[in-house]
Amino acid sequence: MQASQVTDKIFRLSANIESDTLFEGIWPLPHGCSMNSYVVKGREVAIVDGVCDWDGVPETLYAQMDEIGVDVKDIRYVIINHTEPDHTGWLKSFQKITNNFEVVITQKGQELANAFYGLDIKYRTVSSGDSIDLGDGMKLLFEETPNLHWPDTMVTFEESTGTLMSCDAFGGYGAIGSSPYDDQLDEEQLRFFEKEALRYYANIVCRFSPSVTRAIKKLEHLQARIVAPGHGLVWRRDPKRIVSLYERFASYFAGPAEPVVTVLWGSMYGNTEKAVAPILEGIASEGVKAIVHQVPQSHISDILASVWRSTGVVLAMPTYEFKMFPPMAAVVDELGRKQMIGKLALRTGSYGWSGGAQRELDEIVERQKMKWQFLEPVEFKGALLEMDRRLLVSRGAELARRVRETALAAR
Ligand code: FEO
Repeated sequence: MQASQVTDKIFRLSANIESDTLFEGIWPLPHGCSMNSYVVKGREVAIVDGVCDWDGVPETLYAQMDEIGVDVKDIRYVIINHTEPDHTGWLKSFQKITNNFEVVITQKGQELANAFYGLDIKYRTVSSGDSIDLGDGMKLLFEETPNLHWPDTMVTFEESTGTLMSCDAFGGYGAIGSSPYDDQLDEEQLRFFEKEALRYYANIVCRFSPSVTRAIKKLEHLQARIVAPGHGLVWRRDPKRIVSLYERFASYFAGPAEPVVTVLWGSMYGNTEKAVAPILEGIASEGVKAIVHQVPQSHISDILASVWRSTGVVLAMPTYEFKMFPPMAAVVDELGRKQMIGKLALRTGSYGWSGGAQRELDEIVERQKMKWQFLEPVEFKGALLEMDRRLLVSRGAELARRVRETALAAR
């Protein structure tokens, strides 16, 4: 990795998490993920956020400081926007090199840092509106943005350049090489990172969407000219693009999302699978986009991203031992944990000696307070008959119609 210059006196340092690692121990990273730090040089030097403590990673940071002509021991302020170990794990290693620094952090952050690291270091707790003047025209302002993603979170804003160092907010998956700025990429590359931002959002941030909406409003007055998150691209040409994207993702929490239906299906012997094609036929007849995931074959990370942006969901699965097909039950439960609420939904599936899937589905939807609105289900004994097939086409079309109308009405 190479350090790069965001502005004259602000530098981006970064380490990539590679594709064989699960983020948070859960989420696959087929394209990796960057962890970004920012060094701000005034007469005094500050570093905003850091990296994890994995073998060799803090050393990568020190090597990049060397590249930009900063002696590690010259860092006076370590600014922790958010205490999660992907941004703070390196602290123990750093403290072995020097103790002549202050950790700038919120009160809640200090509690968490103590719990995670128990380091004997000097803390300066800050709250919204506090600032540190580094000299040479570089001044850092802090704004608390709780629950984005942990309750400790704040952002750091460098006033003279309008650079918002936002940690998890406005971040995304995707390892980054020698082109970390939006002004270095073409439209296709930007779209790739936007797609990675959606999956990141749906995996990590979506449950905290009301906090995202509040934070965007709270930070509006800063009129950031550069958005520099803790993961992903730095937005220098068009910072509004990533802020608007996050604003849109967050809006899916409170109301309808895009005019899209996610079709989740799992099948034991192919009977329920045969119900998928007629539903897709019905959805297509209304000109609505469908995204299909087989369960359990698709990873929950991708399913979350797809369901988050969808106004409608189809659940096609057989009854299994008086309950739902177990991997589908796990998926629906996870959708509930992530607060994917208010979807329009249709259930279908085959059963043998008894039904029972609906009972368990109702129980999960109720327990997780998902408030999904279901069309009448299409359940069939054994194999799919022609009359079931025709019914599925029409139910798929009905769902798509309602999805389109609801999503368009919300725009
Ligand atoms: Fe990138 Fe919530 O830490």
